[in-house]
Amino acid sequence: MSVLDLARPEIRTLQPYSSARMEAAGGQIMLNANESAWEPMGDAGAGCNRYPDPQPEALLQPMASLYGVEREQLFVGRGSDEAIDLLVRAFCRAGQDAIIIQPPTFGMYAVSARIQNAAVIEVPLASDFSLDVQALLAAVTPAVKLVFICTPNNPSGRSIPRADIVQIAQALTGKALLVVDEAYVEFSDEGSVADLIGRYDNLAVLRTLSKAWALAGARIGSLLANAEVIALIRRIMPPYPLPSPCIAAAVAELSPSGQATARENIAIVREQRETMRAALCRLSGVREVLPSDANFLAVRFDDAGTIYQRLLQAAIVVRDIRRYPQLQDALRITIGTPEENARVLTVLNETGT
Ligand SMILES: Cc1ncc(COP(=O)(O)O)c(C=O)c1O
Repeated sequence: MSVLDLARPEIRTLQPYSSARMEAAGGQIMLNANESAWEPMGDAGAGCNRYPDPQPEALLQPMASLYGVEREQLFVGRGSDEAIDLLVRAFCRAGQDAIIIQPPTFGMYAVSARIQNAAVIEVPLASDFSLDVQALLAAVTPAVKLVFICTPNNPSGRSIPRADIVQIAQALTGKALLVVDEAYVEFSDEGSVADLIGRYDNLAVLRTLSKAWALAGARIGSLLANAEVIALIRRIMPPYPLPSPCIAAAVAELSPSGQATARENIAIVREQRETMRAALCRLSGVREVLPSDANFLAVRFDDAGTIYQRLLQAAIVVRDIRRYPQLQDALRITIGTPEENARVLTVLNETGT
C-alpha cells in the first residue's frame, strides 16, 4: 500500500495547473507569462515584474540541507499555515474524513479542517500536557486521514518525546498520515524527527522560518515528507506561492552569516526563557509558569484578566490564552529581547503581582 492511497482519489488524478514559469525559464526574452517587461518603482533589481520560480532551487537547496532532507522531500510555501491547509485539502474528503488534534494546541489544524468540512476529533492532552498515546491511537477510525502533533506544543510549550512519535508513526502506517508540527523545535533540546521520514512514509514534518529564523513577515514554511506526498502537494499548490522579495529574504537568512546570527538569537531566547521563568515564579500573583521548550512561556495568574489589561496599559501585548482548555487562568508571553523581558517584569512588579 502506498501512502498516497490515503489521499483524496480526485486529487491523485487531478491535472495540475502548468504555470508559464514551470514550462520554461531562463530565456533572455521572456514573453510567455503576460508579465510587464518593465521593473516596478523601487524594484532595485528584485525582478518583481516577473513571476517567481514556484519552488526556487536557490531556496530549496539551503533549506533541504538545513533540515537534512532531499529536495524531493521538501515543499516550501507561504508559512507552515499553507502546508497545513494543503495537507487537509489533499487528504480529507469533505463531509467524510477527519483529523485528530490534541487540545490545547495550535488553532489552524482545526480551522483548516473545518474550512474543508472535515471532522475534528479531539484527544485532549493530559493535565501535565503530555500526550496520551493509547488514547490517541484508540481514537483513530477509518475516517481519520491526518493526525497532527505539535511539538513543542503551542500554547503549553511542552515537547512530545521522540519515542512517542515513533510509536504513533508505526501504529498509523497504512492508516493515516502523522503530521508533526515543529514550528518551535529550534528552541528545544528534543531535536527534529525529520530524519525518520525515510523510515515512515506516513510521517510528515512542518517547519517554519517564522520563529527562530526571524522571518514571520516573509511567510516561508515547509513540509518535509516522503517524495510522493511532496509531489502530491506540489500538484495542488498555488501557481506561484513564494513572492520574490520573500525568497531573497530567506536565502539571505540561510547564508552562513544569517544562520550564525539566528543561532546567537536562539541562544539568547533559551537563556532568557529560563531567566524569565525563574523571575515570574517568584511573583506572588503567579500560580505557575509551565516549563517550555519553545520561545514563549504559558503563565498561570491569580487574575490573568487584570494582568493582561495592566500589561496592555503599559503598551505590552501578550496573548490571552484563557479560552484554551486547561489554561483558563493563563497568558502566553513570548520571549523578547532582554530589555523587553525586563520591562515585562518591571510592569508586573509595579502591578503588585
Ligand atoms: C505550532 C505552530 N505551527 C504553525 C504556525 C504557523 O507558522 P507559519 O508562520 O509558518 O505559518 C504557528 C504560528 O504561530 C504555530 O504556533
